[in-house]
Amino acid sequence: MRTRRDTPLGFQPPAIGEEEVAAVAETLRSGWLTTGPRAALLEERLAAYLEAEHVLALSSGTAAMHLALLALDVGPGDEVITSPITWPATANVIEHCGATPVFCDVRDSDLNLDPALLATAVTERTRAILPVHLAGQPCDLDPIHALGLPVVEDAAHALESRYRGRKLGGLSDATAFSLYATKNLAAGEGGLVATNRDDVAERIRGMRLTRRGDGSHYDQVTAGFKANLSDVLAAIALVQLEKLEAHTAIRERQVALYDDGLAGLDGITPLTRDRRDTHALHLYVVRIDAARAGATRDEYQRALAEERIATSIHFLPVHRLTWFRERYPDQPRLPVAERAGDEVLSLPLSPAHTDADILDAVEAVRRVHARVA
Ligand SMILES: Cc1ncc(COP(=O)(O)O)c(C=O)c1O
Repeated sequence: MRTRRDTPLGFQPPAIGEEEVAAVAETLRSGWLTTGPRAALLEERLAAYLEAEHVLALSSGTAAMHLALLALDVGPGDEVITSPITWPATANVIEHCGATPVFCDVRDSDLNLDPALLATAVTERTRAILPVHLAGQPCDLDPIHALGLPVVEDAAHALESRYRGRKLGGLSDATAFSLYATKNLAAGEGGLVATNRDDVAERIRGMRLTRRGDGSHYDQVTAGFKANLSDVLAAIALVQLEKLEAHTAIRERQVALYDDGLAGLDGITPLTRDRRDTHALHLYVVRIDAARAGATRDEYQRALAEERIATSIHFLPVHRLTWFRERYPDQPRLPVAERAGDEVLSLPLSPAHTDADILDAVEAVRRVHARVA
């Protein structure tokens, strides 16, 4: 019988080893602190991995989505349909283009955009769709593509995912990934756009860095951003890419431990994973139905913190956050997303954790459940 841990269990610590440390040291010694050969190599390797024509290395997943929308000419007066169950950055980039986010409700099973509701959100101002692959479960892309509108995917959680056998990256007009510290391929900060469209790649290449010349003269042809990825971070990402398969095996084991260990706990249910797809296993999200589980999600989260198990919430519905609520006071309620926002709890999952760590988390949930249910 496992008891309360002596040491805290982190939610998603990075799985960084001596290989990453050595790669950073080597990069610093090479003199390339900014974008250079390692960023170029990362783009080449990831284009092969993602089965896409082009990959552009950028400073964040947020920048990746922002520049992808701009490359598709999203601008003032436009609407972009997106999911309310996401990190606010997904909606913020729509605002940064001067466009309006239109939140469409999600489906109960995996909390991805509900394809049955999408058509009702389309107006003559709809310029693009920005679906989110929550936790690593691909959205149902076929009905999204069937609407015939430009699509930028938020694949921040979904680097390893396949939709019906096909790798995410070359399926839509553009696909954005994140290299943030907690992500499956973690560089600390960073992002990627994958696309098969030459024009989209070329426009993002032109925008990510205000161009510099070779000598004392320089010119610019567009008001660019500063959204390039440094070689120091690309060096970390290159090592992480080599470890991806090994890390996937660890994630699979951890997810199986949760599936087995939590099965049968009334009112605690993991999000659905569609067996037709490859799930990136970025997050292990359960829903806590307070009426059956004996306590609310927040009470479970507090009780787990007392058990020294760190957890997180993915996500609070974006349209209910203060800024969006005040900016769009008349927006319709989204019942599925709003209920989910009260119920979701993400449990520790990381290749840096041992199986024993995950079993500690499982036992802690079981102890809390036995006490309150
Ligand atoms: C679903 C989702 N989209 C976008 C982002 C933004 O990525 P970044 O932090 O690299 O800007 C995140 C979180 O990091 C995320 O979880």
